[in-house]
Order: sequence, then C-alpha cells, then structure tokens
Amino acid sequence: MKRLSGKVTFVTGAVGGLGQAQVDALAAEGADIVVNDRNTPDCTQKAQNLIRELKNKYGGDHIAVTGDVSREEDVQAIVKEIIEHYGKIDILVNNAGISINHVAWDFPKEDWEKVIGVNLNGVFFCIKAVLPYMREKRYGRIINMSSVVGITGARGTAAYAATKAAVIGLSKSVAREVATRGITVNCVAPGYIDAGLMAVMPQEYLQREVMPSIPMGKLGDASDIARAVVYLASDDAKYITGEVLRVDGGFCI
Ligand SMILES: NC(=O)c1ccc[n+]([C@@H]2O[C@H](COP(=O)([O-])OP(=O)(O)OC[C@H]3O[C@@H](n4cnc5c(N)ncnc54)[C@H](O)[C@@H]3O)[C@@H](O)[C@H]2O)c1
Repeated sequence: MKRLSGKVTFVTGAVGGLGQAQVDALAAEGADIVVNDRNTPDCTQKAQNLIRELKNKYGGDHIAVTGDVSREEDVQAIVKEIIEHYGKIDILVNNAGISINHVAWDFPKEDWEKVIGVNLNGVFFCIKAVLPYMREKRYGRIINMSSVVGITGARGTAAYAATKAAVIGLSKSVAREVATRGITVNCVAPGYIDAGLMAVMPQEYLQREVMPSIPMGKLGDASDIARAVVYLASDDAKYITGEVLRVDGGFCI
C-alpha cells in the first residue's frame, strides 16, 4: 500500500538537486506532485521534463507551476492554480533555497535580502497561502528545509544560517497554531549532501574543513533527504510536529 496515494504535494525548488530526489520519492508513494521552480526558460524546461518523467514512471496527475517564492503575489497565483486544478493541498515541501556567502563585515545588503527573500520570506509566503485550505480540510503536512548550518553556523554563511535557523522558529510557532487541526509542521535539517548547492563548494574546503567533522566520514545522498521528507509527509509521522529531523551523518552530535 502506497503511503501518499492521492495526496496533492506542492514542492518548491523542485528541479534542484535535492528537490528532484524528493519529488521522485513522493510520487513513488502515490503523491500527485506540483513541481515548482523559478520562472526561467531553463527551470521551466526542467520542470516539464520532470513531470513527464514522473508520469511515465509512476502515473498520477503531476503539474508544473513556475513562480518565484520570494514574491507573495507569485505564491498566491501558484496556490490559486493548485486549488483550481486539484481542489486541495495536502502536503507542502518548502525546499527552494539559495546560498550567497560573504563574511559578515563585507556582506552586501542586496545579497542579504536575496537570501532572506527566498529562504525565509518564501517559506512564510507558502505556509501562509496553503494554510487556509489545510485548515478547512483539517489535514496537512508542512515540511521545511532547514540545514545543519542553521544549528551550528558556518563561516561566510551569516545570511544562509540566519534563514535556516529562522525557519526552525517559524515552523515551531506555526506547528503550535495548527496542531489541533490535523496539520503537522516539521523541518528536515540536511547535513552535507552530495547534490545541489554542494556542487559549488570548493573541493579543498570540503576535504579540509567539512569531511573531518562528519562522524560517518562521508557525504549524504539526495535520497537520504527524500526518505526523511516522505516519512514526515506520511501517517507514520502523524504524531510528530515541531520537530527538526537532522539527516547529517552525525555532523551535529
Ligand atoms: N545540498 C545540500 O547539501 C544541502 C544542505 C542543507 C540544506 N540544503 C537545502 O536543501 C534545499 C535544496 O537545495 P539543493 O541543494 O537541492 O540546491 P539547488 O540549488 O540544487 O536547488 C534549489 C532549487 O531552488 C530553486 N529556487 C531558487 N530560488 C527560487 C525561488 N525564488 N523560487 C522558486 N524556486 C527557487 C532553484 O532554481 C533550484 O532549483 C535548499 O533549501 C537548501 O538550503 C541543501
């Protein structure tokens, strides 16, 4: 028996490294996926390819809806389209994220605002937009992508770490607000995963600074994060809310 049959699942930043693994794992469990990413020719093409691939592999009713999660009007339009198509939203995965790194004393305000815009405002706008529909149905699963960097900090990541820590506080507050309505709100905090954002990390820094700090001695796979997302989305986790599930090979122990 598939764990997410017929669950309408809105995944932001879905064509990225971790997002693709998540939508694949969610669709494999029977979810109908709303693939969101930025409205650029490249992301739009990747989103179309992804839904075709999901339909071929798993069947189901998957759609691509591009838009910038840092713009509330885009998010409202996306959610309107989802409701027009499916009539409900069961699961939201706030996965879209960017990282722009500088030391704090040399951090341009525009870069700070870009990171806050996607990683924090985007998460808030999506939560705000879906909650009326989840509250009405008395059912919902919200999963927000944090990061171990939001727990430990890391040099150069003042903005990124601030947003990833803020997402934990945001999730815990909303979890309390909707707990009696059958809606859970949790975070996944990936460690260093061999996909997506990590592709741009310099090898020298990775080997010297990161690897010695991972007790398991290796990077995680995108599928490790996808499995955690599926778990929190499923009824196996129905009594879990306000939690931060680290998937980090022991990095934060
Ligand atoms: N890869 C890792 O090791 C790692 C570790 C910890 C946390 N994370 C988090 O996991 C999530 C996914 O990251 P990833 O590694 O797959 O990176 P990625 O860059 O491959 O994917 C991020 C996706 O978000 C999309 N996106 C960016 N801005 C957007 C916007 N305004 N609106 C809609 N979509 C937007 C991008 O186009 C991209 O497809 C992020 O939140 C990231 O912070 C990743």
